[in-house]
Amino acid sequence: MKKTVAGTIRVELGERSYDVVVGVGNLSVSAELAQRINLKARVAVVTDEKVAPLYADKVIDALGKKGLKAGLVVTPAGEEAKNVNTLAALWNKFVELGIDRKSLVVALGGGVVGDLAGFAAGTFLRGVDYIQVPTTLLAQVDSSVGGKTGINLPAGKNLAGMFHQPRGVVIDVETLKTLPDREVRAGLAEVIKYGVIWDEEFLGFLESNITGLLSLDPAILVKAVLRSVEIKAAVVASDETENGLRRILNFGHTLGHVLENLAGYGKYLHGEAVAWGMMVAARLAAEMKMLSHSDADRLTALLEKLTKLPQVKGVSAEQVVGGTKRDKKTVAGTVHYILPEKLGRVVVRSDVDEDMVLRVVEGYISRG
Ligand SMILES: NC(=O)c1ccc[n+]([C@@H]2O[C@H](COP(=O)([O-])OP(=O)(O)OC[C@H]3O[C@@H](n4cnc5c(N)ncnc54)[C@H](O)[C@@H]3O)[C@@H](O)[C@H]2O)c1
Ligand SMILES: [Zn+2]
Repeated sequence: MKKTVAGTIRVELGERSYDVVVGVGNLSVSAELAQRINLKARVAVVTDEKVAPLYADKVIDALGKKGLKAGLVVTPAGEEAKNVNTLAALWNKFVELGIDRKSLVVALGGGVVGDLAGFAAGTFLRGVDYIQVPTTLLAQVDSSVGGKTGINLPAGKNLAGMFHQPRGVVIDVETLKTLPDREVRAGLAEVIKYGVIWDEEFLGFLESNITGLLSLDPAILVKAVLRSVEIKAAVVASDETENGLRRILNFGHTLGHVLENLAGYGKYLHGEAVAWGMMVAARLAAEMKMLSHSDADRLTALLEKLTKLPQVKGVSAEQVVGGTKRDKKTVAGTVHYILPEKLGRVVVRSDVDEDMVLRVVEGYISRG
């Protein structure tokens, strides 16, 4: 297979800096990276049961060609597997494989594998290096970059976790060919998010390449992923542990998370709920006269084309607004909304009138 590396983005975090390599058919770059980190490392490749038969051999063969011995660890697929039992199973597998402080963990898969394997690596022997090889669009543009790792608890999502930056990230957009269309569209919601929070021109690029994006044209995908990662890297570099600027990455997430929880597990994908949250937040900004209604319309039109927007029913606006107050990120009862001032720039607002939120949310819940 022809291997092309299209670009490399540096995540600048002092001594924890690392590269994100984006390309087409470049899975084997993970082995080059592993070799550069440690020539003689024992490697554990962590993946899930769906990704294993698709890509594990390619990565393990490439590691073998570099003289690196790799053991394969396969977890169950899906969000339900992101729990303490799977984490404990990973730790035990690391013991079996003889993973030591100089070893390397490779997280090959979607955000679930990345979060789990990253957390397992961060906590095993008080911290083992790992690299991310994300194979979903969401993981490529979002979860693999930034060092957030963790698991879900029965009481809520991502409640146990740590910041553990990877030593590198290798993105092969060709792996998206096997990803279900619904998952691709969920990832595209996060791609659109980067345009709204940072770069209006990028939104224009997305608008002009609807077909290319949905048909997974490698050249278009590479551009979309590169720009998304560049924006995430810039935000993370300025705020590694989410005290300030990094909060803008939550655009669409305040309302999106509530919808995800209210609808119940499995009804909407995260990206679908976020697409809805972005649509509603933009309208809220328009009602607050921060953004023009035509810009809110423009975002809605793009979301309609590239994502699968939930047709929300069976919940009330009061339930949605109530849910925002229980959000993990709500500090002392004050709900923060990330709202666009224009497409390409957002601000954090903590003074949003609750009645206005109720009214706007109401308009996005269908009756009957
Ligand atoms: N750490 C962070 O900063 C961060 C950011 C956003 C989301 N997340 C987390 O990411 C998780 C969601 O990630 P996700 O959307 O990638 O879900 P996922 O990891 O569950 O992957 C979705 C599905 O696609 C399958 N899959 C993965 N790659 C494939 C491929 N190339 N071809 C075919 N099937 C493939 C998986 O087996 C799974 O069934 C959530 O747990 C969320 O909390 C973390
Ligand atoms: Zn998200």
